[in-house]
Amino acid sequence: MWPKTDLADLLGIDTPVLQAPMAGGITTPELVAAVSNAGALGCLGCGYSTPAEIRAAIRAVRDLTDRPFCVNLMAPRGKRHATPRVTRRRVDAANARLNRIRAELGLPAPPPIRRYEESFEDQMAAVIAEGVPAFSFTFGTLSSAAIAELRDHGTTVLGTATTPAEAQTIEAAGVDAVIAQGSEAGGHRATFLGDFTDSLLGLMALVPQVVDVVGVPVIGAGAIMDGRGIAAALALGATGVQMGTAFLACAESGAPAAYKELVRAAAPEDTVVTATLTGRPARGIRNRFIADLERQAERTVLPYPAQAAVTQDIRRAAFAGNRGEYMPLWAGQAGRLCRELPAQELVKRLVDETADRLARLTVGTEATD
Ligand SMILES: Cc1cc2nc3c(=O)[nH]c(=O)nc-3n(C[C@H](O)[C@H](O)[C@H](O)COP(=O)(O)O)c2cc1C
Repeated sequence: MWPKTDLADLLGIDTPVLQAPMAGGITTPELVAAVSNAGALGCLGCGYSTPAEIRAAIRAVRDLTDRPFCVNLMAPRGKRHATPRVTRRRVDAANARLNRIRAELGLPAPPPIRRYEESFEDQMAAVIAEGVPAFSFTFGTLSSAAIAELRDHGTTVLGTATTPAEAQTIEAAGVDAVIAQGSEAGGHRATFLGDFTDSLLGLMALVPQVVDVVGVPVIGAGAIMDGRGIAAALALGATGVQMGTAFLACAESGAPAAYKELVRAAAPEDTVVTATLTGRPARGIRNRFIADLERQAERTVLPYPAQAAVTQDIRRAAFAGNRGEYMPLWAGQAGRLCRELPAQELVKRLVDETADRLARLTVGTEATD
């Protein structure tokens, strides 16, 4: 039996499993709704979306489910990780390095960059106008006023931390729960206070130390792929988990076929934390795209989000053309444990496996008593 957790009550779900937001087209409304319909919490990754796209995606989810779901954005970055000014010369140099890849993909010269990223305030206004059940953020913190406004609209607010100090900061801002992102996790690091390298804490070290310093529920994230990982996170004091890579290979996920195959075939040591593709450290499978950019002089990799903007046409073309060598293959350290199942079936298996694992641990305890 699963323990009854405060998080399931808080979110109004049956099973405290959160499907991680995965911006860039992976967390389709179909995936999010299927997870929520199975009794867990589906989440739309809207960090790169325009306000109109956000509203359309939320409505598409609502057409498919009446269960709670979540929407995720990238929060404004604090002073330490604010984007320095990037000169035209540096953008041109970065683009010059990327032109060989563009030629290989049959892409024209780089289009002029309209803006590096969507306005967070406009994205947030779209989320608030839709009044979603849950909202999560990464890369920074929100003001207490912004969190209070979400709450006034009936939204439960979750923030992401990679250290106990970050967890305390977002708790002080007023979040309802903290997502503790371990260094095993796929995708971008949520780090917003300290140095990225110093904040690479494994989940085993991170979860208990976050649980000890905050009063709100803690959700563990990072290489959790099955009932073994979920039971372990619960044993560390988390009352729920967030899983990204595990849902990547689901039938409803928007990840191209080559991405799913490469994640399932990856060895644990094939992932790397790199800033080459977007300017911000993220964990993914090392492919030709990363290897090419790693060989280049450091100064041709721009800071986030400028590097994300200059590589955008390549990333999109690689997704559309199913070209695994030039996609960002964000994935955690246990991609090999991915299962290519419909999301509802995956949630069902996770529930059964966790119950089984917890029961076996209990039996083991009794036997040694
Ligand atoms: C492809 C991919 C995209 C991601 N995009 C986001 C995102 O948009 N917002 C976010 O808060 N986290 C994002 N993450 C990180 C997840 O929230 C979570 O920390 C991670 O998936 C946990 O590790 P796992 O992938 O091993 O389960 C992403 C992860 C992956 C794998």
